[in-house]
Amino acid sequence: MEKQNQRRIFSGAGAELWQPAERSIWTARSSDGGDQALALLKSLLDQPRWLAAQHLYDDIGSELFEKICDLPEYYLTRTESAILKERAEEIVRRAGVECIVELGAGTSQKTLLLLDAQVKQHGGGVFAPIDVSLASLRIARDSVERNFPQLMFHGLHGLYEDGIAAIEKDLPTLFVFLGSTVGNFDSWQFETFFSHVSRSMGSDDYFLLGVDRVKDVDLLKKAYDDSEKITAAFILNVFENVNRILGSNFDQTKMRYEPRYNAEWQRIEMYAVATQTQQIRVPGSKIEFSWHKGERILVEISRKFDPEQLQAQLRCFGLDPVAHYTDKKDWFSLVLFKKAARR
Ligand code: TRP
Repeated sequence: MEKQNQRRIFSGAGAELWQPAERSIWTARSSDGGDQALALLKSLLDQPRWLAAQHLYDDIGSELFEKICDLPEYYLTRTESAILKERAEEIVRRAGVECIVELGAGTSQKTLLLLDAQVKQHGGGVFAPIDVSLASLRIARDSVERNFPQLMFHGLHGLYEDGIAAIEKDLPTLFVFLGSTVGNFDSWQFETFFSHVSRSMGSDDYFLLGVDRVKDVDLLKKAYDDSEKITAAFILNVFENVNRILGSNFDQTKMRYEPRYNAEWQRIEMYAVATQTQQIRVPGSKIEFSWHKGERILVEISRKFDPEQLQAQLRCFGLDPVAHYTDKKDWFSLVLFKKAARR
């Protein structure tokens, strides 16, 4: 049974990369520890220094992120959920697919609304969330199994690229990318991501994208600078993970969190600033460097979008917009795209 299902979801080449990790969850073989450390070190030595977003989501980071989603200042999650609640049935009807693949799924709580519609309209299907956090995938699996035994759960523990490449093209699929996670990509990552997604999509596939919109600066700033300091803890926690990967000695007591809104680039920039000079050692490499007092490391960005321009841009990637949903205040947008017919 397991084998057969696996073959149906995975494309030929993709299947070899994935091995069963535990019940209904597969893990990508590609994540090579050595390469990861080297990539991390390169970004820390870049000018200015920065960190890749995936390192935020270790077990503690994933938990802190769930807390952010419930913060009063963080309007994104509840606004997106409200739109989904109203529109899930329509989205699922328009797409009419057998498989829902969620990218950067986390615990998939919002996606349950789409799964509910899927089960009501089609009686079943496949749900394949892709995430770098195994802990989050376990939570997603348990709640999907509990709520929707009619669905086949197929968790992919790994990077988006590897997950997307693995999905069988002939299986009509709705790709779901929520939470404005696409805003955490810079322009270069955005380009790479959508080129790859579009190439991997079959002719009957759809893509649902949730994005946060440009709005009043104070609202934006508050969302990334909450009074309980959970966002600060989330951002600085990345250094625990960095220390684990590199064996380095970043000291959280000698740094602080600093969010900034870059109006020209329409993005929140989340920095860690050294409050005292730290001498950073990376055992196993010959490298040692000073992180000077007042110097910043860019840990994360969150871009804000104009949905009209975004739709026009994604047309250039072969994704045609078919529906645009928003909330009463125009704070957040859900856009449904269809893979364009070959021209
Ligand atoms: N994608 C979401 C956003 O940009 C979630 C997120 C990523 C986030 N990194 C974050 C939220 C850092 C708060 C702080 O808002």
